[in-house]
Amino acid sequence: MKTLLDADRLQQGIRRMADHIQAFYQGSPLTIVGVLIGSVVLLADLIRLLDLPLRVELVQARSYRHNATQPGALEINVETLSSGLEGRRVLLVDDIFDTGHTLWQLVPQIEALGPTEVRTAVLLRKRDRCQVPMEPDFVAFDIPNVFVVGYGLDYNDMYRNLPYVASLEPEDFGGEPQ
Ligand code: IMP
Ligand code: MG
Repeated sequence: MKTLLDADRLQQGIRRMADHIQAFYQGSPLTIVGVLIGSVVLLADLIRLLDLPLRVELVQARSYRHNATQPGALEINVETLSSGLEGRRVLLVDDIFDTGHTLWQLVPQIEALGPTEVRTAVLLRKRDRCQVPMEPDFVAFDIPNVFVVGYGLDYNDMYRNLPYVASLEPEDFGGEPQ
């Protein structure tokens, strides 16, 4: 495993993104919707940097993969949302924008719930991987096309708790879930 973004750099990038979000919303009410599970670490840090009248909600999006590094079919569950989104400004927060299929499929499902607008923020974006006609509105870091774990991101449900982002090396693949 090789560290790509240590804890200090992560906090700097998240603070920079929080400043952009803060400036964009200008104090208006906002519902932040975190995409489970990968966004939870970012979500916890990000919301504490925002001085806005905020609601926090969660939505579940899981891509089932035979091989954990290749995208598979996506299953989205919006029933975890507890408060209505009608008339709200919504910011969807995810860990990583890879091919983009997750947010591309999630945005219209959130739009169908009646918010006035839906924007997106991610911790990481992989370069040259996008397969959809959208880009996230807020990005903390652009990274190379490597499989990364830590700070919410997993491989086979492991490593989400690392306080840094690391790339997996060939010898790190193939472990059983713990
Ligand atoms: P997308 O739909 O291809 O943009 O992928 C988004 C989802 O794939 C993320 O929310 C992650 O769960 C997962 N993912 C993509 N790349 C990585 C990675 O490098 N490490 C861990 N998970 C990843
Ligand atoms: Mg995810």
